[in-house]
Amino acid sequence: MAERVHIFDTTLRDGEQSPGASMDQHEKLQIAIQLERLGVDVIEAGFPIASRQEFEGVHTIAREIRGCRIAALARSRKDDIERAGAALEPAADPVLHTFIATSDIHLEHKLRMSREQVLDAAGEAVRLAKSLTGRVEFSAEDATRSDWDYLVQISKVAIEAGADVINLPDTVGYTTPDEIRGMFQHVIANTPGADQVVFSCHNHNDLGLAVANALAAVAGGARQIECTVNGIGERAGNTSLEEVVMAIHTRSEIYPYECNINTREIVPSSTLLSKVTGLAIPYNKPVVGRNAFAHEAGIHQHGVIANALTYEIMTPESVGRNRGELVLGKHSGKHGLQTRAQELGYKLSEDELRQLYDKFIDLADKKKEVFEDDLRMLIVSLHNQTFEIYHMLQVHTSGHDPAMAMVELKRGDDKLVDTSIGDGPVHAAFMAVDRIVGISGKLEHFEVRATTPGKDALGEAYVTVSFEGKSFKGNGASTDIIEAAVQAYVNAVNKYVALKQEFNGSPEALTDERVP
Ligand code: KIV
Ligand code: ZN
Repeated sequence: MAERVHIFDTTLRDGEQSPGASMDQHEKLQIAIQLERLGVDVIEAGFPIASRQEFEGVHTIAREIRGCRIAALARSRKDDIERAGAALEPAADPVLHTFIATSDIHLEHKLRMSREQVLDAAGEAVRLAKSLTGRVEFSAEDATRSDWDYLVQISKVAIEAGADVINLPDTVGYTTPDEIRGMFQHVIANTPGADQVVFSCHNHNDLGLAVANALAAVAGGARQIECTVNGIGERAGNTSLEEVVMAIHTRSEIYPYECNINTREIVPSSTLLSKVTGLAIPYNKPVVGRNAFAHEAGIHQHGVIANALTYEIMTPESVGRNRGELVLGKHSGKHGLQTRAQELGYKLSEDELRQLYDKFIDLADKKKEVFEDDLRMLIVSLHNQTFEIYHMLQVHTSGHDPAMAMVELKRGDDKLVDTSIGDGPVHAAFMAVDRIVGISGKLEHFEVRATTPGKDALGEAYVTVSFEGKSFKGNGASTDIIEAAVQAYVNAVNKYVALKQEFNGSPEALTDERVP
């Protein structure tokens, strides 16, 4: 039987550190539910010491997700570890993941600690973590720029202190396949107790080598791959889950390993993440990009029609593409809608189903065919209503240079209307919202794209707006793109106002700590 390689998904932790990928608790839970369907072994849910919201996000996922292990990150510090332990408290199968840097460059310039001090800190951290949770992972940050014999020493210390997993990350995306394979072989061969633990790789993609390095690490003895959906993550991102899994799947004669992944959930996971974060998937992204299975050249098309094997190394169906393209029409009814939403992995309450049905009928009135991606987008934007403070009722714009906009919002029972001029209709409408809510956000990012092909497509709008120096993302969807844009802007405003209210206006709400 093929040996098992565990998939440790860090989309919600390292992935969430990508610029523009921050998610609120509810969004994180939606992704976690999909990751469970995808079949990952571990979901790294966050870095609980970073902020109260981050703590709550991990705690909620630990409570709700029972089908995979839930990990939380902590530096090798007592308060970090205790906070991570508390966030994991409801988890069925928790993993406390603690780390400290091991390269001389980090020791000298960041930690200002000697190698001996770092060994002591690592041992103490793992011992404390082990007293709080059943399973502990230890990471030697910047391992690929560390002295290999020092990695042996620190791995031995961590194993003696109770670590179950030793992770050797390529934190800065610097290594190469041959080098990382040699590093794992060296550390595994020379560390006493190596056979008692699982070795893990965690690669960043600065040189575009993360997937190749992960496969080489496995050849060197790693049996856990840390990765993210769509490869999102710090800087150029992490090992892309879909690419590494499909490489193992497609080339099983070279990579004789089993992962527990249900590959048919790959495209749905990728699409959901893109809709929740607003981060677009490049058309040519392997496995999940729009063009990944599109054959443009006539000679290729001809070959594929004769036999798909001529130019296709995996089928679109095997990664969950083309599955149930057309979903529903206007007459499908509430029950049909509920069944389809369930098939997509959503458990909706009666109230949510009612709201979704209203949105669906509204959309089906405007566009004949409602596709799976339309439905996903409606469900993602449905969440915007669950903590809505301001609700967009209507927007009208006219002219240009200057353009004029009239916006009507609802807050509680009050209807609030204002107008503004601006450089274009969207600018004018955003300014009108600012006037109504009495705060002025700085628009950092604005993007509109179509959910599906066709002139009547649903327009998805994504904004990032900064208030008091903290960025808030918003999304909206409508067949009218100005309406979608205003919904997205109001969604970001709502997130800011809700956070301020939760913390009674304290600045604590607007600060958080990130992994260095
Ligand atoms: O890249 C890295 O080294 C990390 C660790 C915290 C595992 O993300
Ligand atoms: Zn990382």
